[in-house]
Amino acid sequence: MFPRLGFGLGLRTRHYEDVLGGEPRVDWWEVISENFLVAGGNPRRVLREVRARWPVALHGVSLSIGAVDPVDEDYLGRLAQLVAEVEPALVSDHLCWSGLGGHAAHDLWPLPYTEEALALVATKVSRVQDRLGRRILLENPSSYVTFAASQIPEAEFLAEVARRADCGILLDVNNIYVSARNHGWDAAAYLAAMPAARVGQIHLAGHSDHGTHLLDTHDHPVGDAVWALYGEARARFAEVSSMIERDDAIPPLAELVDELDRARQVASDAGSGVVGRAVAAGG
Ligand SMILES: [Fe+2]
Repeated sequence: MFPRLGFGLGLRTRHYEDVLGGEPRVDWWEVISENFLVAGGNPRRVLREVRARWPVALHGVSLSIGAVDPVDEDYLGRLAQLVAEVEPALVSDHLCWSGLGGHAAHDLWPLPYTEEALALVATKVSRVQDRLGRRILLENPSSYVTFAASQIPEAEFLAEVARRADCGILLDVNNIYVSARNHGWDAAAYLAAMPAARVGQIHLAGHSDHGTHLLDTHDHPVGDAVWALYGEARARFAEVSSMIERDDAIPPLAELVDELDRARQVASDAGSGVVGRAVAAGG
């Protein structure tokens, strides 16, 4: 259903020179769609150069698919234009809401997982896919609160949205870990509830541990527990395009490329059953 791109990184401004001037061991790049929506200018030029050499995924933060507002048609039109120009391998956004009544909050908030929300999100995803003429992927959020009104476990909700709207899932393994720790969920059960054919991309990232809760900060290397969960994910969703997101305390590109090698190693071990055996033995 989705292309298998290998191992990618998030394209960040401070790395532009090293990316365009070198040959980093990176199979593909993910960019934040909103940073490239304005036609012309330097960002679009860089993106064109990157796209000429690598596959690119567009990752959005403004769709607000969980809000009761209709999809912002102006935003969708600009995204469609970017999609037409870049011809990305993957297009994604988040299972969240990030504003109301035309006001953008620039935060990715979780929604109550109810039948009503399910119908709304599935309808809005269908509208987006009709406009873009392609499937999108929805990413599981990291969260710090849940709603008393929720009736459906998040993993089942996401799987059912994907089935009804015929879209894909961007599985953020760090987000699963963060939310599972914060809410006492079972991360392995979350993975097991994902429909393998619809998982088209995996995110890896670091978080910060505040003792009582984890924060999804993207300012650390990927943690050991998240690597272990990634191994389990790769054992179940083999060959799925994977990438590391780093948005704060961004190190030199070479460090992220080295970290990406660990992803390759974990995935390779998972493919040969090493993780499966470790999980079976270690629980
Ligand atoms: Fe993510």
